[in-house]
Amino acid sequence: MSDGRALAREFLEQQRQLGGDWVVLPEGPTPGWRPGSVGPPENAALTPGASPGNTQARPAREGSDLPPPGISYDPPGGDLFSNDPVPQAVSLDVIAQLVAGCTKCRLCEGRRHTVPGEGSAEARLVVVGEGPGRVEDETGRPFVGPAGELLTKILGAIELPRERVFICNVVKCRPPENRLPQFDEIAACVPYLFRQIEIVKPKAILAMGGTAAQTLLNTKQSLGALRNLVHRFRGVPLIVTYHPAALLRNPNWKKPTWDDVRIARRLID
Ligand code: URA
Ligand code: SF4
Repeated sequence: MSDGRALAREFLEQQRQLGGDWVVLPEGPTPGWRPGSVGPPENAALTPGASPGNTQARPAREGSDLPPPGISYDPPGGDLFSNDPVPQAVSLDVIAQLVAGCTKCRLCEGRRHTVPGEGSAEARLVVVGEGPGRVEDETGRPFVGPAGELLTKILGAIELPRERVFICNVVKCRPPENRLPQFDEIAACVPYLFRQIEIVKPKAILAMGGTAAQTLLNTKQSLGALRNLVHRFRGVPLIVTYHPAALLRNPNWKKPTWDDVRIARRLID
């Protein structure tokens, strides 16, 4: 194999590890070869079909009606030489312990329990909400109040029992009166979320509501503008949908939410 082909293979493999689709890269030079050939055969290299830096050039796969690509956000990882324990936490339990003792922002003052998140460390889907509400603060568990009951139903609709996903929030302590988390609170708390996603290595992320979507994509764009696109967080496909608490107020958004979660379901299959 020529150096060029070896490099291409390496790039395609990296793309696969980032969650890309199958593309055939034949062993020998093949005159008719083009990106986007269907696969996977043995020895195939894999890629989302894009050239480096070009996320728009994804060839449509036959029968695929996934939404087009959106934002790709790749926040810097932890500094190997720092002694910050969060980016180096080895498990979800270690993260939960660090969260339990955390006083990095003012939300620690009013909390009864921290709510680090719960679910399978092997989950193929990570669901991210905004922050604990009253019942979550009382129990230390995410999404167990009224919004949580609706989330359980939503997950049931795509045949995902709660135990098979990892459910968490952007901030791990309840904002007073359920107000929006403030920018500095989110900035203080987000390393826990980033490390949780890094540990779980899901096939897809479902960001529910504006806070989760804007935090994970590092954008101020509205939820409406962010829906119906396949974004990426550190290469992991990310779907944006309404927050279940918003659905309780606006039942009209249920149908679009169902459409969004079905897309998420296809990404993890
Ligand atoms: N709303 C959220 O965003 N998260 C919860 O855990 C509960 C309600
Ligand atoms: Fe720490 Fe996050 Fe709680 Fe703030 S919200 S005290 S950063 S765990």
